[in-house]
Amino acid sequence: MDINPKNQPVDRVDGRQKVTGSAKYFAEFALPRTAYCVIVGSTIARGTLDQLDTKRAAAAPGVLGVFTHLNMPAIPGWDAPVGGQADGPPPQPTAETYRILRGTKILFDGQPIAMVVADTFERATYAASLVKATYTRQTPKTDLNKHLAAAIAPSIPWMKDYSRGQAEAYKTAPVVLEADYVVPTEVHNPMEMHGILAQWTSPTSLLLYAKTQGVNATQRAMAQAFKLDPRNVKVHTEFMGGGFGMGLRTWPQETAVVAIARQLGRPVKLVMTRSQMFQLVGYRPHTRQTIRMGADATGKLVGLVHEATAETATYEDFTEGTVNMSKFLYACPSMQTRYRLVRLDRGVPIWMRGPGEATGAFALESAMDEMAHKLHLDPLEFRLRNYSETDPEHNRPYSSKNLREAYERGAAAIGWRNRPATPGSQREGEWLVGYGMSTGTFNAMRWQATVRVVLQADGSLLVQSAVTDIGPGTGTALTIIAHNVLGVPLDRIKVQYGDTSLPPAPTQGGSAIVSTVGSAVFDTCSAVKQTLVELATRPGAPLAGHQAEELALADGQLFVEAKLATQVAVAELLRQNQLASIDKTTESKGGPEQQKYSFYSYSVHFVRVRVNPRTGVVRVTKTVSVADSGRIISPKTAASQMIGGVAGGIGMALTEEAVLDHRFGRYVNNNLADYHVAVHADVPEIETITIDKPDYLLNPMGAKGMGEIALIGFAAAVANAVFNATGRRVRELPITLDKLL
Ligand code: MOS
Repeated sequence: MDINPKNQPVDRVDGRQKVTGSAKYFAEFALPRTAYCVIVGSTIARGTLDQLDTKRAAAAPGVLGVFTHLNMPAIPGWDAPVGGQADGPPPQPTAETYRILRGTKILFDGQPIAMVVADTFERATYAASLVKATYTRQTPKTDLNKHLAAAIAPSIPWMKDYSRGQAEAYKTAPVVLEADYVVPTEVHNPMEMHGILAQWTSPTSLLLYAKTQGVNATQRAMAQAFKLDPRNVKVHTEFMGGGFGMGLRTWPQETAVVAIARQLGRPVKLVMTRSQMFQLVGYRPHTRQTIRMGADATGKLVGLVHEATAETATYEDFTEGTVNMSKFLYACPSMQTRYRLVRLDRGVPIWMRGPGEATGAFALESAMDEMAHKLHLDPLEFRLRNYSETDPEHNRPYSSKNLREAYERGAAAIGWRNRPATPGSQREGEWLVGYGMSTGTFNAMRWQATVRVVLQADGSLLVQSAVTDIGPGTGTALTIIAHNVLGVPLDRIKVQYGDTSLPPAPTQGGSAIVSTVGSAVFDTCSAVKQTLVELATRPGAPLAGHQAEELALADGQLFVEAKLATQVAVAELLRQNQLASIDKTTESKGGPEQQKYSFYSYSVHFVRVRVNPRTGVVRVTKTVSVADSGRIISPKTAASQMIGGVAGGIGMALTEEAVLDHRFGRYVNNNLADYHVAVHADVPEIETITIDKPDYLLNPMGAKGMGEIALIGFAAAVANAVFNATGRRVRELPITLDKLL
């Protein structure tokens, strides 16, 4: 069915709570006798902890405990618990191990060497400043550029080298491009600090308020770490001030807080500092890529090679799909990919919005622009000449692909015809003007979720799922789905989410949640509708004799579509049958037909920039982003989601870089003053367009994901626009002014 036939632009259902401050984030929960934990981090990136003086800290006012490798309580099931289900396998352990506060080996800068707990946050912070450590320091290896020779192939099967057609066929083409592209380390930097509040409610049961993208994943991880029955681990995360991927696993310091809370016999809260969030909760890995591409004189790709080498920790191999989109986005007969890792003295990376593909698209889509230039072709035309009608990687059809239409609509909206064919030829006063475009893509997935729906006798509806809402407006989308299946007015629907007491859901990530949990809401509401129809059409019932297909639901009424007057109020139907409610819980997932197709969402980004040739300043003056992400369920929150992705993309393109001082293996811009996210002055008019065509092969609503594609490709569009404006090709992000002078 059409899931939102009127395209109702519904306001965010939790908007009022968020702007009035009544939405509670994990750190705002208060439990009696809560103690506060502050982490003391290593000031070296590699070496050994020799002496640790905790006497003054322990004697400081209000201190309840100073936990180090010498007295850290046991974590019985400790095995680096990893949560999360988004976009691929969790980081894989290496021969090296990292266990927080176990032993004296230092593996990365900021590694916790002590966790200080006091009765107030201020006292814990002061006491933490009194902990003194001495180290035997070794020279850290943190510079990917210096250690490329140490690159290894990850052991994970799906990251294996890929090849089709003829090896290195690009070399045989008349026009060849070889270029290296660099994406620096980037840090998620959400507004909300990371952390956890842990309370042991009995010797075998836990209550956690956490900043996690998946309460069930955190539940599993903690149950494993403390050898508990998962049902006795309660996790609550209803609101989140930005996730972007850092909440896709359970981090060791969170597990440590739970152990400390048990030892102290009282709740313990950890709220990390901004600089600790650079060190302890992952980042987008610094990645070097090489694209080798060959095309014939008609602009057809002959061969493509995409290689990536990314940083990871010494103790875990983190991998992501950096080279994946090159395998299928264009119809190229011969293509190879390689993905390599360099293990460095760094904390482990984690997925960050558009994980893998955002990095990969910068290389591929910059290279497509460079090749178009070599071929004297419009870059949009070059892409159309290599459009893949079926998936060349898996040799199967796409479930849906409306990318051509996305190109057309985006080009019209930005005014692509105004793009100067010759770089550096268009001016506005002293500014050079340029246009750029790029493509983004990401897997469209559907996982498994369970949802409970309760239709009350008063006609109101309750929808329950454990899923978190990291910000995109999940609660709003689920409300709209329930509204359109059951006809219950929007203001009579309550969606409860973000708690393990509710039916299980996967971690929010991978742009899969509306497809997954939304489908479960759809299926469960459909089951409720089925019951209503049965009650209404039985012999003697108000709509007896009518068939299910004739009936529709709206405004709390079940009616015969052809004869609007023939209706019965849902509340009346329940009353007649002496039912207090109709209460359904169903488990829902994709079917086996999903193996027959390749499922992707697509985005097209168009950008207009101005570049000042004297100062090198780049200003994005207009952006148009088009999403081919299936049927749009919630037009308002979908547009917001895309606007957020574009703002992030402007940061990725122009300002974001986590800079390390490799002498010490430390960040030098570990704060929001020096790590530049895009601010209002950087962000111009953002136009978003949705193709809004359903893909019913993925799920009954026809919705595909859009969280990742809002960002993926955007940085390349900016780089391509800068080239068009100036004739200068910047292959290393961010495009700061020094690179243009
Ligand atoms: Mo997203 S990187 O799947 O939170």
